[in-house]
Parts: sequence; C-alpha cells; structure tokens
Amino acid sequence: MWLNQLSKFALLAAQYLVPSRSTSTCLSTSTTLEHLIDCFHPFTVPERKYPDYPSYDAAQPNATQRQAWSDVITAVLNVDGNCSSIFIPPSINTIISVAPFTDSSGTAFCVLYESSVESGHYAKGWGLFVVPELRADVSRSIHFSAPHPGWPGGDGDTPQQAASLFKATGAKSLLITGRKRTASILPSDCVTSSQGGQHYYMTDPTHSIREPFFDANLAIIAWQNENGGCPATSCAFIQMHGKARTTCASEQVFLSAGLGRGKASIAWYTDDVDRPVKRLKTQLI
Ligand SMILES: *[C@@H]1O[C@H](CO)[C@@H](O)[C@H](O)[C@H]1NC(C)=O
Ligand SMILES: *[C@@H]1O[C@H](CO)[C@@H](O)[C@H](O)[C@H]1NC(C)=O
Repeated sequence: MWLNQLSKFALLAAQYLVPSRSTSTCLSTSTTLEHLIDCFHPFTVPERKYPDYPSYDAAQPNATQRQAWSDVITAVLNVDGNCSSIFIPPSINTIISVAPFTDSSGTAFCVLYESSVESGHYAKGWGLFVVPELRADVSRSIHFSAPHPGWPGGDGDTPQQAASLFKATGAKSLLITGRKRTASILPSDCVTSSQGGQHYYMTDPTHSIREPFFDANLAIIAWQNENGGCPATSCAFIQMHGKARTTCASEQVFLSAGLGRGKASIAWYTDDVDRPVKRLKTQLI
C-alpha cells in the first residue's frame, strides 16, 4: 500500500514538478527577447556531459553538418522580413530550427535554435543565434556573443545581459553557445595552457576552434566584411564574460580587447588609434 502511494506520488511529481520541456515552447511562452533567452538558458549542455572523446565527438557536427551550420548562420544574417523561408539542409534539420519571434515592443526577430533536446538539455549545444527580422530594425553593426552560459562553470547571466544589450542598441546579431565551458573538461588542443598546470577545456569556445560557436563567428565576420566591412568607428564585435563573482568581485565592468599581456597588446589601449573598446570606456566613465 505504502509503495503504491509512493509510486503514485512519483508519477505525479514526474508529471507536474518536472514538466517535459521543449525549446520550441520558449518561443510560444516568452513575451520579450530577454525572456526568450532566459527560457533557453536551462537547456545549456551541463558540466561533464562529455567525459571522453567518443562522447564529445558524437555531439560534434560532421563536415557536412558543419558547413550546413555555417550556411544557415549566413542565411539568418541575410534575413530581411523572410525568416520563415530559411532553408535548413537535411543534415541538420532534425537538430536546428529557425523561427520568427516578436518581442512585446513589436520588434520581430529571427531565431535559430536547437530543437533537439535530450534529458532536458540540448542534444548538441551548437548554439543559439538571433537577428532582427527586418534590416530596418538594425541600427548598428554590433555583434554580441556570450560564450560561457550557465553557472557554476560558466559566466552567470551573460546570455541574458548580451540579449538585453543586443535589443537595446538595435544591434545586428546575438550568438550564444549551447554548452557550458565545462561540458567537457578534456583539454582543448587549440590553445595550450595558462598557469599552474590548468588547461582550457575542449568545450570552451573561446579557446577551442572545434566548437560550432567558432564557425558561427567566422560566418558572422565574413558576412560583416561583405556588408560594409567593420570600420572601427562604427562596428564592433562584443563578447560578454562575467567572472566577477569569483575572481574580480570589485569590478563592475572590465573592458578588454581580448589580447594578451605583451607590449603590442597593451599598446591597443594606450596608442591613439580609435577602437570600439576605447569608445566604450569613454562613454562609461
Ligand atoms: C531574404 O531576403 C534577403 C534580402 O532580400 C535575401 O538576400 C535572402 O536570400 C532571402 N532569404 C531567403 C531565405 O529567402
Ligand atoms: C553527416 O551526418 C549527416 C546526418 O546524419 C549525414 O546526412 C551526412 O551524410 C554526414 N556527412 C558526413 C560527411 O559524414
């Protein structure tokens, strides 16, 4: 009798406490772009999902899919009121979907998201990509990205922050990776390590060119170069990081050109060449 009650409770709990989630539901239930990005956030591939190379490789795009992924990113960048007409190649059409989404402000966006979900998370975690659906709604050639979703093991709410800035500034694109940087703690074979024997992770897309986030960035840069180029006076690529809670608690905003600590890198900040990072600094202080 007691066991019977318990299994009934488990059944109810499974039904009501852990709703079966789908990413497409986010598109129908969210009212603003920030809500939408927040709704997608828990689908991020969690820590240690890929404990070894075979599990990592199984979640990676093959050559055909990698090309298709880049092509769809480019198609989304080319959108001008025709988001629903984007063709998704068969090699990825069971993984990726593209759909229009209208924010409560009335602005329409075109959203590329992962429709395949396994155990409550993205099956692959290649990424989420958004542009305004109408080119007339793009005010600036700014491309925002968030490479480290999730917490712990990520940079807090940077996807939501990037979404908010993207919308508020009328920027051109928003890219968010679908994997926590710790989804695989295997060492990246792209950048060799920093200090203390620590290494960068395979699924840290700022230190691994195998991640689809990298391919998406290449497609974005190529698109920008073909559409007016990226003059430092009017165009910027802004990547959001956020480790303040654990590493720099006294910082509110830390602007970095993303370069190393060498003389040439420091010169980026001290020379008199106009750069987006310097203009942001001037505006913030
Ligand atoms: C949408 O329109 C743009 C601009 O006219 C065009 O470049 C693009 O090919 C169109 N995309 C689709 C998927 O029809
Ligand atoms: C990659 O996988 C897709 C989907 O399973 C398949 O259609 C395609 O033929 C594969 N391509 C290669 C190069 O293995």
